[in-house]
Amino acid sequence: MYLSLAGAILCLSLSAIRSSAVPVSAISQGPQRIFPTPATHRPLVIWHGLGDTANGEGIAGLMRDMKEMYPGIFIHSVQYPGSGSIDDERKAGFYGNASMQVDEVAETIRDIPELADGFDGIGFSQGGLFMRDYVQRHNEPRVRNLLTFGSPHMGIARLIPCRSSFDLLCIIAKQTAQKGVYTEWAQNNLIQASYFRDHDRLDAFHKMNKYLTRLNGELEAQPRAARNIASLDNLVLINFEQDQTIYPKESAVFGSLVPSAVNSSNPVIPMTENPFLWKHDRIGLRKLAKKGGLQYGTPDESCPGAHMDLDWGDEEGCGQRLVRRWIGWSM
Ligand SMILES: *[C@@H]1O[C@H](CO)[C@@H](O)[C@H](O)[C@H]1NC(C)=O
Ligand SMILES: *[C@@H]1O[C@H](CO)[C@@H](O)[C@H](O)[C@H]1NC(C)=O
Repeated sequence: MYLSLAGAILCLSLSAIRSSAVPVSAISQGPQRIFPTPATHRPLVIWHGLGDTANGEGIAGLMRDMKEMYPGIFIHSVQYPGSGSIDDERKAGFYGNASMQVDEVAETIRDIPELADGFDGIGFSQGGLFMRDYVQRHNEPRVRNLLTFGSPHMGIARLIPCRSSFDLLCIIAKQTAQKGVYTEWAQNNLIQASYFRDHDRLDAFHKMNKYLTRLNGELEAQPRAARNIASLDNLVLINFEQDQTIYPKESAVFGSLVPSAVNSSNPVIPMTENPFLWKHDRIGLRKLAKKGGLQYGTPDESCPGAHMDLDWGDEEGCGQRLVRRWIGWSM
């Protein structure tokens, strides 16, 4: 049963990973004297992906393991709405106003004393897009290293497949979006519509989409966003080589598709050949690259598997490797 479904289940959340993972926590055993340690590791904020929740099994497992890796580290997992049920949280991944969700999360972050001196961020899939939005429009307190795993930075050109035929929340959101993704209603109420970028309907996208066009400076300069992105220590754009959830998968590294009318095989336009991202540097990526802070496009920032397959149980797997490299630095 599990195997036959496995192909159809797209792992948007991290919950499936744990079952095969060897927890890092298994390493430390026996009685230990716990001394209070000063907070030497930079705190961390995690923003989960679509369909997941702040304290879902996968995220909780990651947090447990990272606390073993970096004793004393403070980790906040983004929960939206703050006081909602798990169903409310899952629903908010599909429905709502993306800008407003980010604004409210930014308020929560501002009120957490442990984060006051700055923090690192990890955003999974959609959560990475929102974390970048936090940096661009808020960034108080500031983010130092930001890791995005399989995030649709240049949007999606196809709606994200639902994990199973029983995921009604996902299916209804998808069917609604299919009826008209560039309607005012969809743009204001369906999260995926806010980053749906149809390379064959760019006119409609530019006319109706407020969220992604603003986030990427596609239509006008974004001076504040550009300052804030360039102020990061590192932006690490992690892609999944076998990603079949985010289309095109190169969106994880700001790749987008050539319109069919120009080239029917839709080759990918890399970030550095995209005028608003690079030539005009509207959101500060080129400036960040110039100071050595933009990390992407080498095997170091790449995961070999499918969307969100962090291979977390393996110390050499891309998840642990990247976390050891970029998280847990000293303040
Ligand atoms: C969505 O949120 C943004 C930012 O808070 C706001 O400017 C916009 O009007 C909102 N849209 C709707 C339909 O509420
Ligand atoms: C269209 O894209 C393909 C695949 O990248 C490429 O080989 C071909 O040269 C392109 N055609 C034109 C007319 O640019």
